[in-house]
Amino acid sequence: MLEGKNILLGVCGSIASYKSAELTRLLVKAGANVKIVMTHDAKAFITPLTLSTLSKNQVFSTYYQADTGQWNNHVELALWADLILIAPITANTLAKFASGGCDNLLSACYLSAKCPIMFAPAMDLDMWKHPSTQKNIQTLLNYGNFMIKPGKGELASGLYGEGRMEEPEAIYQQVIHHFEYEQLLKGKHILVTAGPTFEPIDPVRFIGNHSSGKMGFAIAELCAQLGASVSLISGPVALEIYHPNIERVTVITAEDMLNAVDYAFANCDACIMSAAVADYTPLQKAEQKIKKNDTEFNITLKKTTDILQYLGSIKKNQILVGFALETENEEEHAKIKLQKKNLDFIVLNSLKDEGAGFGGDLNKITIIQKDGATTYYDLKSKSEVAQDIINTLIKYL
Ligand code: CTP
Repeated sequence: MLEGKNILLGVCGSIASYKSAELTRLLVKAGANVKIVMTHDAKAFITPLTLSTLSKNQVFSTYYQADTGQWNNHVELALWADLILIAPITANTLAKFASGGCDNLLSACYLSAKCPIMFAPAMDLDMWKHPSTQKNIQTLLNYGNFMIKPGKGELASGLYGEGRMEEPEAIYQQVIHHFEYEQLLKGKHILVTAGPTFEPIDPVRFIGNHSSGKMGFAIAELCAQLGASVSLISGPVALEIYHPNIERVTVITAEDMLNAVDYAFANCDACIMSAAVADYTPLQKAEQKIKKNDTEFNITLKKTTDILQYLGSIKKNQILVGFALETENEEEHAKIKLQKKNLDFIVLNSLKDEGAGFGGDLNKITIIQKDGATTYYDLKSKSEVAQDIINTLIKYL
């Protein structure tokens, strides 16, 4: 199942390191070429001899071999790999990866890598929960790395909780899944819009909305991970994107977004409009800051172009996906938008569940397809929601 795949397995110093032996055996048995880089502390938990015997390869740990003076080329190791898997990864190595620290061979390989990275954390429950660890994890996820989430269980400290590294068999299954999955959108060009638009009133004020862009960014990231080349057209948001397959264009107004989308649409296979585009924009933008004078102040607004409806009117073979944010008669309104805008499917957002929708990390959606098929999903993280949306898109592509 993994014939010919080159996997660089990073092993850090944790009691969970003993599981790396079984993981190595599973990967090798499935046909992968496995090379192992251990941190200094990992050697206190499991011997290089065990891992080199199981991997059938020399195990690396330092920048050079003290006995022969031979250099262990981290760039070569990183570029050799089709996948770098760090299992277990400790809080310390997570912090190094997140900050670009490079004081050992494993972190140097990480910085030199061009391939996908998977990491399986192992640590005590309070270390796991600490905001610093969570922030580092979020940074790595933002870099496009995949996490194999730790489970709950008895920990080395004797405490019970989250932080226990996933079992080797489950990690192995995720590696298989990764290789099956990473090709799914290869050769496809996906256009994704995200975030709000800001419509200027004067040089210092604008009309905007609460969209954070998180949903669109999660979709763009996932498409890129699945091998697509992605054009991400985003309104003003405080988010970063790092995946090399994503080309990001930042726009401010609905009109800017229309122009950018119009330019990119002809060459895409699918377009996912998750942006919260302003429906109205001030008729005139004041050249100078408006002074406060009267007790009341009116702004005349004019309708913006409905970008999605425009795309629906010009589309050829492209798959067109829209979003709908409704507060009443949700499905009925979403179905009307689906038809009016000539969409293949529409993602209905609900604001009814706590934590779902604008700004938060969770979302609850219903997907309605053009043939009327309707699927209801649970409240989930936005990256899991992105998965549900892309699974539906893949059926169309
Ligand atoms: N949309 C768009 N251009 C606009 C407004 C909306 O492309 N000027 C897109 C959004 O990106 C979304 C879909 O249309 O994919 C639905 O947006 P929504 O705000 O839910 O609905 P509207 O069509 O704007 O209708 P209303 O605000 O009346 O509900």
